[in-house]
Amino acid sequence: MASNSTIRALYILGVVLVTCTNAFTSFAVAGIDEGQWSMVQKKGKQLMVNDRPFYVNGFNTYWLMALAVEKSTRGKVSEVFRLGSSMGLSVCRTWAFNDGGWMALQKSPSVYDEKVFMGLDFVLSEAKKYKIRLILSLVNNWRSFGGKGQYVNWGKTAGLNLTSKDEFFSHPVVRDYYRDHVKAVLERVNTVTNVTYKDDPTVFAWELMNEPQCPSDPSGDTLQGWIQEMTSYVKMIDPLHLVGIGVEGFYGPSTPERLQFNPNPSTGQLGTDFVRNHRAFGVDFASVHIYPDSW
Ligand SMILES: *[C@@H]1O[C@H](CO)[C@@H](O)[C@H](O)[C@H]1NC(C)=O
Ligand SMILES: *[C@@H]1O[C@H](CO)[C@@H](O)[C@H](O)[C@H]1NC(C)=O
Repeated sequence: MASNSTIRALYILGVVLVTCTNAFTSFAVAGIDEGQWSMVQKKGKQLMVNDRPFYVNGFNTYWLMALAVEKSTRGKVSEVFRLGSSMGLSVCRTWAFNDGGWMALQKSPSVYDEKVFMGLDFVLSEAKKYKIRLILSLVNNWRSFGGKGQYVNWGKTAGLNLTSKDEFFSHPVVRDYYRDHVKAVLERVNTVTNVTYKDDPTVFAWELMNEPQCPSDPSGDTLQGWIQEMTSYVKMIDPLHLVGIGVEGFYGPSTPERLQFNPNPSTGQLGTDFVRNHRAFGVDFASVHIYPDSW
């Protein structure tokens, strides 16, 4: 079922966040006042909540929505948040997508399974209960949970002449599908809390995509255009929440002198470009994915 890249996507061990234009990472435990559940904001190079510094101490758990759908497995979601909270963790990264396949959130473009969306509602309400904030990723680069390939297949089904999964980033109709998904998630009214996702301080940040790569254009221009367009779109609907991209963190053509620090030469040819990508207007922080067994 799973390719190597799928396995990597599922078993990320660490996601390092650094606010953009900044060069430090902090692992201090967050101090959140009870009863003051406000949005995390960026002031200059500092993350802030209620005028106090906010420090990310995070973990990655992609499967929360899937297990929140059925009552019989929901307890695992609560248990993860309870454990994380007891360790002083403040941010959890998880999927706000599942496209086309088994227990899909989005069954076809803009067609949602309400029962699965209610699972995601539960994830947000439960995270708040344990004072954990969420990075919600909006689509996968990889095949698991649908991914860009599913979007391109939807386009083909609709009669578009698409030949590459990378046309996820370039074809206007497929970009529309993605924008519609962004809008559906951000404007979702939580059936447990009645809070619209775009107004919910439980969301730490939106993440455009899990590990975007566009190897058909190693110059990076195609992915850069997509990042800029989609960041602007998210900010238009929701100007307050932070936005991240979700890249693994490989250096690209804009920084030739740093290519030597990539895990291997081919990672500089994937159409991603760590420094340039994070300079896109509106991107609030940088991410790096760390796989201790691989790189
Ligand atoms: C589909 O697109 C490919 C590549 O862009 C092109 O070569 C081909 O002629 C197109 N096919 C049709 C039926 O338009
Ligand atoms: C949500 O809204 C509905 C309808 O307005 C209301 O009946 C319900 O009590 C509200 N629930 C919460 C948790 O605020």
